[in-house]
Amino acid sequence: MRLLKQKNFLKPKNTDKPMNGPSRCFVSIFAMSLFLSAAFLLAGCSAASHKRIIRIGHNQSTSHPTHIALTAFQDYIHQNLGDRYVVEVYPSELLGSQTDMVQLTQTGAIDYCIASNAILETFSKNYEIFNLPYLFASTESYHHAMDDSSLTAPIFTATEKAGFTAVTWLDAGTRNFYTVNKPIQSPADLKGLKIRVQQSPTNIEMMRLLGGSATPMGFGDVYTALQSNIIDGAENNEMALTDNGHGDVCKYYSYDMHQMVPDILIGNNVFIESLTDEERMIFEEGYRLVNQVQRQEWVNAVSAAIEKAANQQKVQFLYPDQAPFVNACSPLHQSVLENNPAIRPIYDVIQEYNKQYPTTTE
Ligand code: GCU
Repeated sequence: MRLLKQKNFLKPKNTDKPMNGPSRCFVSIFAMSLFLSAAFLLAGCSAASHKRIIRIGHNQSTSHPTHIALTAFQDYIHQNLGDRYVVEVYPSELLGSQTDMVQLTQTGAIDYCIASNAILETFSKNYEIFNLPYLFASTESYHHAMDDSSLTAPIFTATEKAGFTAVTWLDAGTRNFYTVNKPIQSPADLKGLKIRVQQSPTNIEMMRLLGGSATPMGFGDVYTALQSNIIDGAENNEMALTDNGHGDVCKYYSYDMHQMVPDILIGNNVFIESLTDEERMIFEEGYRLVNQVQRQEWVNAVSAAIEKAANQQKVQFLYPDQAPFVNACSPLHQSVLENNPAIRPIYDVIQEYNKQYPTTTE
């Protein structure tokens, strides 16, 4: 009930458009049920070989660092526990949108999925912290904070009662605005523009503070929305331009650097708790591998995306003064901390990392 309410609250404003309308939702849930029924039949077949199938869903392509990292996990489990488990990785929203996949992980219909930290905020308020604009002073500060398990533990375990736990994080770079035909040089340029944001109250509030019109929708719907002028732009890392084709439509990408929002690998609690101590240690090593492989792949993938976007898609990269964006967003830190004082100690530790690593050099 709570989830349904939250979903409605976050429903995109363009609800009359087919891409997010109730009929599409029904069709996709129906398609997903069919798909999962088929998958369970297959699971039944493999029961003959006494192997438990582990299903992991994500919304990126098969050449994306996220998929490469999950494939490494698949291989690792195969090498170490191949007599007991078979890992299956489903890319490209095959199992539904990220929100659908989180709900499937909650109920145990699938075992793991990758979700952006942004959408996890609707499952636990603690996740709000990593959605704050201009939270991290540099990439180094972001990486050190995310690697600090004493900092992430209260967040990663906050959804245990909801049925899932976060087991590691993945880099999703820095989020910046990109638009079809209006270069964004300052927050004033966002006025009157419909910008797709992730389905999170913090992101909606961020856009309000910056003066644009927030249009929340799932990642898989953004390309069509851009192409059909339902929205004027979006915000994401550089990979969205190339891997998701957004750079075919949007010709201006502005480095305002408003957020570093991690992706999170979450797992179903019942499944995780069913593992023996020995298996759990192997899985934990597997989660570490996901994090390492994804981060190594990420650096080259982003450089390649920038090159392709500039040279083949003819996207112009802009470097606006960040100060007016930072100032416009700053009230959000105060309001989030006031509404959720439990995250204040985590916020304070992040400020220490910011002092230690004030500028990006990586
Ligand atoms: C990034 C992120 C995804 C997220 C997407 C979005 O690509 O890695 O997890 O779904 O942004 O904007 O929705």
